[in-house]
Formats: sequence, structure tokens, C-alpha cells
Amino acid sequence: MHLGIFDNSDQASSAAAHVVINLFAQKPNATLGVATGSTPSGLYRELRAAHAAGDFSLKKSQVFALDEYVGIAEDHPERYRNVLRRELVGKENVGLTEEGLHTPDASAEDPNVAALHYDREIGAVGGIDLQILGIGTDGHIGFNEPGGSLVSRTHAEPLASQTITDNARFFDGDVSKVPTTCITQGLGTIMEARQIVLLAFGANKANALAQLIEGPISAKWPATILQMHPDVVVIADKAAASTLEYTDLYVERWQLAFGD
Ligand code: F6R
Repeated sequence: MHLGIFDNSDQASSAAAHVVINLFAQKPNATLGVATGSTPSGLYRELRAAHAAGDFSLKKSQVFALDEYVGIAEDHPERYRNVLRRELVGKENVGLTEEGLHTPDASAEDPNVAALHYDREIGAVGGIDLQILGIGTDGHIGFNEPGGSLVSRTHAEPLASQTITDNARFFDGDVSKVPTTCITQGLGTIMEARQIVLLAFGANKANALAQLIEGPISAKWPATILQMHPDVVVIADKAAASTLEYTDLYVERWQLAFGD
């Protein structure tokens, strides 16, 4: 696992964008896994700028969301499909087609059947080349909350109360408006991505990041399973990295791998 620590989230987002743009320069039809939430918005902004400059496009790509809220109205602005449409779909964004955007069918009668179908869809395109992740304050990735299986497939999952509180900011600050269930790629599904870039910004992520990088692998902090993945790049700002014990070592390791 490599950890890059940047002065602020803008610099960190730009570093993450380089990883994505480099992959697509080599493989224009790469399959991309995408997170929603506030963390990757700077990365998506960078990708839109690269698209406008003619340096990047998702036109030939299949893109898979990590998760979707169950029971959210089709036209709700916080439905993740709608969020990703705003960020990525169309020539004015990064050229992704509507057909190229895959999200779990959270309006299906049986969310678990929809989840199974979603895992199969990912398999049918040959798996995900690069998965972008954020991290929850409770250590979730996707919406794999503490105490779940470390090898789970895509499944329906209740959101932890901490996540509902954290996400209320997208729903007028009203916890009662936050959906209580989601369909999420499982940890086993996420671990099959060939490369993973995880972004962590802000002091409220410091504890989760410390567990991810330095803690024991534990269902209590689901992101720690990423320690077992051979190709993970974690990109953090200084605030998120503020409580790490071996920062000097991570900086040296980063410079050795990627230069300054
Ligand atoms: C969103 C997702 C979540 C978020 C996490 C952090 O698709 O899968 O794991 O990445 O909850 O959210 P933000 O970035 O809003 O702090």
C-alpha cells in the first residue's frame, strides 16, 4: 500500500486524477469503479478539466458505481445515479454515455437479487480496472459497515447510524430524510478490482485512515481489508494523515515509488 500525503485536497485530487488519466492513456476502454460522496468531487472536477483539454474521456468506458440508496426517488438529486450523471455523463462532463454508467437497481422489488445481478454485470465486462474509493468516518468503504463479512459480494446493507448522521448534510441536515438501506459492492467485490485509489480528506477521517494504514485487519474497520490488496494507492491531505505514526516512512516510500 502506498500513501501520498498532500498539503490540501486540491493537490491530492490532482494527484489522483493523474493516476486515472495515465491508466486511460494506456487503456481507453478501461473499466472504472466510482465512489460518490463529497471526497471525489475534486477528482471529478480535474477529470472534467482534462476532458475539456482533450486529454481524457470515458466515452469508451464502462463505469460502475460503488453503491446506491434503496428507496430513494428516481429524480432525487442525491440518488447516486443522478449525482454521477451530473459529475461524469455527457460531452460537457467527461464523455461517459448513459449506457456506460452502471448503478445498482435500488428500485428493484428484491434488492438482493439486484445486488447479485450487479456483481454479474461487473464480471461480464471482465472486472474493474481501477476502483476509486472514499472512506467513512467509521471505516466503511462502499457502504460496508463495521462488523460485516470481509469477503462479501454486492449486497443490500443497512446504513450505520454514524453514516446516517454523516450523510444528513446531503439531505437538508435532516437524519430522517437519509435512506436507511443501500445496495453496495461487497468487500470481496471491491478487492477484485485490479487497482484501487482511496481518497481521504479532513480531520474527521484521521481515525479511519490510521486504522486503514496502521491498524490490524478487522471487521471493526472494514477498509483495513485493503491491506491485503496488492495495488492500493491512498491519497490523503495533511489533516486526514495527522495522527499517523510512521509518516516519514510513508513519505520516503512514496518518493521511491513515484518521485516528488
Ligand atoms: C460513496 C461511498 C462511501 C463514501 C464515504 C465517504 O459512494 O461509497 O463509502 O465514500 O461515505 O463519504 P464522503 O466522501 O462524503 O465523506
